[in-house]
Amino acid sequence: MRRRLLPVVAVVLGALFVAGRGAGSQGPTGVPAVAASSETDPGRLAAQIGCPVCHGQRGESPLSNIPSLAGQRSAWLEARLQDFRHLGRIGGEGVMPRYARNLSDQQIRALAAAYSLDPLPVPPRVVQASEVARGQTLYEQGDPARQVLPCATCHGPTGGGTATPLIPSLTGQHAGYVAYRLGVYRHLPARQGEPEVQAMRTVARSLSDADIRAVAAYAEQLPARSFR
Ligand code: HEC
Ligand code: HEC
Repeated sequence: MRRRLLPVVAVVLGALFVAGRGAGSQGPTGVPAVAASSETDPGRLAAQIGCPVCHGQRGESPLSNIPSLAGQRSAWLEARLQDFRHLGRIGGEGVMPRYARNLSDQQIRALAAAYSLDPLPVPPRVVQASEVARGQTLYEQGDPARQVLPCATCHGPTGGGTATPLIPSLTGQHAGYVAYRLGVYRHLPARQGEPEVQAMRTVARSLSDADIRAVAAYAEQLPARSFR
């Protein structure tokens, strides 16, 4: 755990420095809030705020614990940014709220649309083929004996998710981030959050740690295996 978190801590601290230089105002918790901007060109706005420092130049995050945004559903990116902005759903924790706080609806739509069109990240070389294979079986078939639902039922056979209902893409997402999010869903209290959050809580609680590592490894490799 510590080993996986250290690089993220380093980047986050670095990014706060970068963001802090241009940010004059203080947020309610005393952390620097990124200043409001009227910029609507998504590329220029992202550069101004510093999104690429963490999420990569084209939404391909360089670190396993920070999500890639490239190729993600635009509506999902928009919903998550609105959550961070309003501290809704499970968006209140971590670094994101201060980057989303001063974005307008129009800016959020523009950023979400632009990142969704960036090409899917190239999957890293497979290091544990057996883990990926086990992940594929769980992803496609689940494990009826243990009441594990197949991820494919909701996230689709190629991992692209759906627009209605809104289900995020997992294709090419960092294994570390997928595992982290499954951990978040798993530890949510019962009855907290929207029905879709509760649905993922149920799924996450049916998975063992080894299951999580396997499906996460498989999700990261999906772009090499399928087309959306
Ligand atoms: C200091 C690093 C950092 C910066 C700068 C940053 N992010 Fe993030 N972002 C993160 C981390 C870490 C997460 C994961 C948060 C979590 O789930 O708790 C995240 C999550 C997200 C998500 C949710 C993705 C998903 O699939 O659930 C979106 C969308 C996002 N960021 C967009 C942006 C945009 C747009 C900007 C610039 C306005 C930005 N981020 C700036 C670190 C950063
Ligand atoms: C019953 C439908 C359903 C099934 C089955 C399901 N998911 Fe989900 N998943 C969802 C929904 C809906 C969301 C969005 C929840 C929210 O709003 O936070 C989601 C969100 C996620 C996220 C967060 C993505 C992000 O970018 O933050 C991950 C990771 C995830 N699912 C992984 C999985 C894995 C792995 C499996 C299989 C073991 C799985 N899901 C099975 C419906 C499902």
